[in-house]
Amino acid sequence: MGKVKKTRFLAAIALGSLMCVVPAACTREYIEQVNPVCFETDVLPIFQSNCTQSGCHNAIDREEGYDFSSYAGIVNKGIEPGDYKGSKIYESLVVPGGESMPPAPYGRLSDEQITTIALWIEQGANNTINCGDSGNCVTDNVTYAATVKPILQKYCTGCHSGSAPSGNISYATYNATLSTALSGALVGSIEHAPGYVPMPENASKIPACDVEKIRQWVLLGAKND
Ligand code: HEC
Repeated sequence: MGKVKKTRFLAAIALGSLMCVVPAACTREYIEQVNPVCFETDVLPIFQSNCTQSGCHNAIDREEGYDFSSYAGIVNKGIEPGDYKGSKIYESLVVPGGESMPPAPYGRLSDEQITTIALWIEQGANNTINCGDSGNCVTDNVTYAATVKPILQKYCTGCHSGSAPSGNISYATYNATLSTALSGALVGSIEHAPGYVPMPENASKIPACDVEKIRQWVLLGAKND
């Protein structure tokens, strides 16, 4: 889902709530005008990157009974399809006063991520997969800024950034990314290659095309382009 569309989603929500007298009805009216949110590529990575750390909401620890590592786990509890405001999971993201999920030291989700989840719930919380340009993986012109960084931000920086990044590895900046790119651990971990801890932790592999793009970038010297 492109940046432009996302911005339009945000605008639609903002507009919807501004003009709303009966919020639920109005929001739905606006949401039906935008493209469906894709669960697999837009929603699942938000949960996997920000909520499934050890001790949190993964299939083993199931903190508070929540497992956010798969579709079945996510819709099992706290999601009311078609009603984001009535969904406990959405509510937990927007609690004011620094009390929202994920808890410290992890930061609040971005407005864009929260809006994506709200829209997905409002559209029925469906298990939409294989959306977008799957089957058509273009790895020409891969750059750090336009290709690699957005992938890492989508799937990895929920754990690998901030003052205490998981495994002491950060993907917040180019310089931080460079060490595991050059050591082979970045590609090894996302390919689930032997000898590396499979990443993202407690989650399925990231889409094959994204793995391919990162591999290509590393092969061409992991440049700061
Ligand atoms: C839910 C949290 C979480 C997410 C999301 C996550 N990681 Fe990790 N990562 C960890 C933890 C925890 C470790 C340390 C694991 C260990 O040492 O056993 C780690 C370790 C690593 C390592 C070192 C692996 C090795 O074999 O030395 C690499 C490389 C890595 N992560 C890359 C990534 C990449 C790339 C992504 C995104 C595609 C990602 N991680 C997403 C939590 C996460």
